[in-house]
Amino acid sequence: MNTICSSLADIETRLAVPVSLMQDIITTFQVEMSNGLSGKPSSLKMLPSFMGIPTGREQGTIVAVDFGGTNVRVLLIELTGNGQTHIIDKRVFPLKDNEGRYNYTTASVSGMQLFEFIAGKIAEIIPAADKIYPLGHTFSFPCRQYGVNSAELISWTKELKTMGTEGKNVEVLLQSALERKGLDQVYPQAIINDTTGTLLTYSYTDKATDIGAICGTGHNSCYLEPNHPLTNRPMIVNMESGNFNQVPQTDYDVYLDINSEKPGAQRLEKMTAGQYLGEIVRIIVSGLLANNSMAIKADALYIPYSLRAEDISTMLADHTANLNEVANVVESCWRMSGLKIEERKALKTIAAFVTVRSARLVAATWAGVLYKIDPDLSRHHTIAVDGSLYEKMPGYAEALVQAMQDVLGVASKQVTIRLSKDGSGIGAAIAAATVYGSR
Ligand code: GLC
Repeated sequence: MNTICSSLADIETRLAVPVSLMQDIITTFQVEMSNGLSGKPSSLKMLPSFMGIPTGREQGTIVAVDFGGTNVRVLLIELTGNGQTHIIDKRVFPLKDNEGRYNYTTASVSGMQLFEFIAGKIAEIIPAADKIYPLGHTFSFPCRQYGVNSAELISWTKELKTMGTEGKNVEVLLQSALERKGLDQVYPQAIINDTTGTLLTYSYTDKATDIGAICGTGHNSCYLEPNHPLTNRPMIVNMESGNFNQVPQTDYDVYLDINSEKPGAQRLEKMTAGQYLGEIVRIIVSGLLANNSMAIKADALYIPYSLRAEDISTMLADHTANLNEVANVVESCWRMSGLKIEERKALKTIAAFVTVRSARLVAATWAGVLYKIDPDLSRHHTIAVDGSLYEKMPGYAEALVQAMQDVLGVASKQVTIRLSKDGSGIGAAIAAATVYGSR
């Protein structure tokens, strides 16, 4: 029988991201960036956004729609024109009702129905029927952009399955849903990725911002390409870095991937994003039971995705002597009771390994971008991040900083990582104002 200690040491080794691996990632990430930008085969889609960074003088009252996969947020935002943003109203609606009354993420619902739902929510937030509202739309999925206001969904990610949407122009779907609802005073101006929104929002005030990222349910980063091949001007590029596939997978990752909605796709995202962290922990713990390192019986442990990122957060935040919160989580998620203290500690440790691995892999890709746009790291760079992992997961933000120091050494002083709070929604408003204001 394996002891829990020997099993933990083995798991730690498998999930470790030493500096040597980070350096490999930096190199391969840059190669994939160059290939993607020049249209060669690459796991990085490097999608043009047709947006540069804002001046900070954009202004107006704008409706923003932020569609990320778990919730849709509809916001009314005031941009003052002096770098200030003010959220006048914000409503959040889950795409999947907890009581099972509706679910817009399954294959039995169409994109048309989904956008009708969103248009209905836009109707609820508009204060005056006789005023014109420019609208900015954050749509957090890989899209082929044909211009700032035209984007076709390449494929769903984050396990979404809504039918009749892949290959469709998302802005057309939204526009027709607005028309069907009689909302002809709302004018969609721009569609952006949430990473772009995060970058736009932070660069509205901090001009050193040149990477935007989401560390939340999904993971992805964008950056400001100083000289985009399409325009020979600076342009934000949505890398879809969650699809980066040059990171060695463990057996846990392979198992998760094979059993996911789209095997082979989004390999980095499946190792780093909130959608998957709980599932990796569940797979590891199932292995511990199978090799008798834990003597517990728990039927519900075998239900995929039965542990969520929020549960991992709760475990990592538990500093009680007996780890009572850890015990509560496994009791409620897996109906697993009577855990010994060593087993509770082991679970918390595994959750920490998985979380820190995520942060170190993400940091390595950012270091790759930084070396690509500034090989000597001679300038200051701000990385703007939004998302629940960055904002709420205990230790995540610190692990990113530590990883940057480990891999960049003293040059890490040139890099600041900052929360771009509500960046994905506010960014949509900034994007819309940039277009509306320049007409
Ligand atoms: C997924 C999407 C990407 C998005 C990210 C964060 O990776 O493909 O477009 O930016 O999730 O929401």
